[in-house]
This record gives sequence, structure tokens and C-alpha cells, in this order.
Amino acid sequence: MTFAKVDTQVLEALRSALQQGEVLIGEDERRRYGHDETEDLSYPPDVVVRPRTTDEVARIVKVCALHHIPITPIGGRTGLSGGALCVHGGVGLAMDRMDSIEHIDERNLQVTVQPGVITQVLMDAVAEKGLYYAPDPSSKGSCTIGGNLAENAGGPRAVKYGVTRDFVLNLEVVLADGSVIWTGANTLKNATGYDLTRLMVGSEGTIGIITKAVLRLLPLPKASRLMLVPFNSATQACEAVSAVFRAGITPSAMEFMERDAIDFTLQHIEGVVLQVPPDVQAHLLIEVDGQHEDVLMRECETILGVMEAHGSGEVLFAETSAEKDALWKLRRNVAVAVKAHTVYKEEDTVVPRYALPQLLAGVKAIGSEYGFRSICYGHAGDGNLHINIIKEGLSDASWTDDLPKAIRELFELTVSLGGTLSGEHGIGLVQRPYMDIAFNARQLEVMRGIKTLFDPHGILNPSKVLP
Ligand code: LAC
Ligand code: ZN
Repeated sequence: MTFAKVDTQVLEALRSALQQGEVLIGEDERRRYGHDETEDLSYPPDVVVRPRTTDEVARIVKVCALHHIPITPIGGRTGLSGGALCVHGGVGLAMDRMDSIEHIDERNLQVTVQPGVITQVLMDAVAEKGLYYAPDPSSKGSCTIGGNLAENAGGPRAVKYGVTRDFVLNLEVVLADGSVIWTGANTLKNATGYDLTRLMVGSEGTIGIITKAVLRLLPLPKASRLMLVPFNSATQACEAVSAVFRAGITPSAMEFMERDAIDFTLQHIEGVVLQVPPDVQAHLLIEVDGQHEDVLMRECETILGVMEAHGSGEVLFAETSAEKDALWKLRRNVAVAVKAHTVYKEEDTVVPRYALPQLLAGVKAIGSEYGFRSICYGHAGDGNLHINIIKEGLSDASWTDDLPKAIRELFELTVSLGGTLSGEHGIGLVQRPYMDIAFNARQLEVMRGIKTLFDPHGILNPSKVLP
């Protein structure tokens, strides 16, 4: 793929496209916007552009279209598949200045936001009005709604409430020629034409640039209960997961952490003390939420019965909000802790929930075959297992030459169990070589047709998603 260079003429055109936004070409800024949280990858853009309005985004895209410059939207840079990396340089379109919560519609339970709003900031703003925006990626304190939309982010509460896509009613999108469209309507139901809204969500900036979103809200749950359940066998922990749903309970979180995930994280974070007995091999972190304490108590009793039947150890209930925060801090910091500790690769496999024990066993078997250790954790209620493969004893040669084969086996296993490559981190750059495992040639051809229709000259986030 060849693109034009960002020369002085392009820079001049970008500057005059903006009224309030900024054009940055300093080395530090380009480096800062040139990475996300994906491994240690770094692909700085030639220029960072920080627009403030949809109009400015449209004008920037027109400049890029005219000069054939690649353009990559950049959110909070917390992504784990490299979706925001400017692999061909070009324009890094930083959305961090488009961070306004434009309107909270309390009558219709909707909110209109720009894409640069930090997810936690949105959650807090609507919570003040007794409303709830549920999708809660672990990085919610620094990721943005735009990035969540681009990757169709999930998080622990997806198991009850759904992922980002399930909260989107309507999107304003700048297309590859600089025109601006809305994809749907601000309604809860919509049977009108093709569903461009759902198509845009998860498309990772490859077919359009989201500049505004109308999101659905819920009433804020008034109460929650949180418990940490130990198991001496990771398989039994996984088996307990699907049994909870069959017992008629849908928890608001059902998280799995292998022993190593907890040990790594306890070493890495401060302020969380937890004695884990030596035999414990895995934990489930289970939350129920709702409007009535008594209902939650009864749900907890049912869950405890299921846990005991699967051989759980002594359950720890978080009694105070400080204890709840501590347990969530532990869970939400696993990825950060592993990353801080070692060179690693993260996979985001997802299978039908009941197949989780088989997936976990298969991951360990592939690990023994190729000689790597893995730390597994994730959203067990969704069948979504994060697999952190850590380098440790592996030679550089095995890491670069053999590991891709091991990952291929891992994904083949996932697909054979009825699952797919990514549950919530996206394909981006790093999972792209494996797309042929999830899709055949005809399916990929349909996807390429969509890409070409929306982006005939291939300037929108090139070399992402499709192999
Ligand atoms: C988590 C992120 C890595 O679940 O998806 O912590
Ligand atoms: Zn996750």
C-alpha cells in the first residue's frame, strides 16, 4: 500500500482546515500518540491532528482524501489489538479534544456524546442523574467512548447488560470523502433499512470516523453484592459458571482469574491484601446488582449453592464499598500487572460459555507443547477468556518463529469450539493474520467489498482488521 507523504503543502492544508483544533508535528507528540497498550508496539503518525468539531474532522478527511494520506482515529490509547496504531504514518486523528457530553436526555434515557469522552466520566455524569451507562472496560478510567465504539469494547458487566454495541442508538459518522451522515435514529426500535449503526460499531475506524454517538441509558442499580469464590481446580471454577445461569441467575459480573493472575496482580498493586491458601488454583469474582437488597440476598444464596456443588472453598463477601473497590481493583489490574512484569502477548478468545473448561484445558495443552506459560483470566460469564502468553523462559527465536504457530493452534481450537478470535479487544493490527481461521474466502470477500464501498481509496485506518 503506497500513500503520499505529509509534506508542507499537506500541513498547510491541515492547518487551514482547523479553526480551534491543533496540528502537532513535534517528535514527542508523535511518539506519544504513536502507541496504545498493545505489547510494546510503536507507530507514530507523521502529524497529530486534534480537532474539536465534526466540521473540522470532515475538513481533515477531505484534505487526506485529496492528497491520499492515511488517517487513523486515536482514542484513549488503551487498545490491545493495535487498532489505533498509525502503521503507515500519515495523520493521527486524536479525538481527545472532542470530549463533550452534549445532552443527557433524562426523559428518554439517552445521552449524546462526542467520541473523546472518557468512559468513566460519562458513567459518573449520568449516575449523578440516577442513570446508568453499563459497558465498563477495565480501562474505563482512561479509555474513550470513541475507542469503545471502534472496538466494540465489553467489560465485566457485559454479561448482564451487553457490550458497547448494545447501547448505541445512532451515530454521526464522517465518511472517507468528508461527507457527514447519521446512521440511524434516536429510537429504541428501528426496522428501517440496513443497520449502518451496528456495522460502524466494531469497524475500528476502517469505514468511517465516528464523531458523535447517541447512547441508551438505564436506571442506575441501587444495590449490589460482590463475592470472591476460590476453587482448588480451575476447571471446576469454569464449570460452575454455566451452572449459575442454568440456576436462573444472571449476575452483573462473572469473572474468572487463575491463581497466577491474582498472584501477579497482588504483587503489582498497592492497598489490596488477600491471603490466598496454597491449594487455591482459581477464583470467580461474582457480582449481582439490582434495585432490591432482599432479591440480591436470595440470588446470592442460589449462587452459593451452585458454587458449593462445584467444590468451591470459603467465599469472601465484600461487606463495604471499600472492600468492593479493592476486589475490583484486583480484577481490573490483571492486564496491567502482567504487562508490567514481563514480555507478553494477549489473546481475547471467546467461546460459548459451556465450552470454557475445554478452551482452558486446550490452552494449557498447547502451552505444554510449545513450552510457554499462560496466565488466563476474563469474563467467564461471556465465555470470554483473556490469555496472556508470557515470554519468560522462551528463546527469542521461539517467541518470533514458533509462537505464531501456537497462537494459530489456539485460535483453531477456539473456532472448533464454536468461538471466535476476539470477544472485545478487536482484530486491529495484531490479530489480522488469523482472520482466515474465523472466516472463509467468501466471507472475507464480502467484508472487503464493504471496506471498498465505504473507503474506495483505502485511506481510513489502513492495514487493519482485514488480512
Ligand atoms: C480486562 C481487559 C484486558 O478484562 O479486557 O481486564
Ligand atoms: Zn476484558
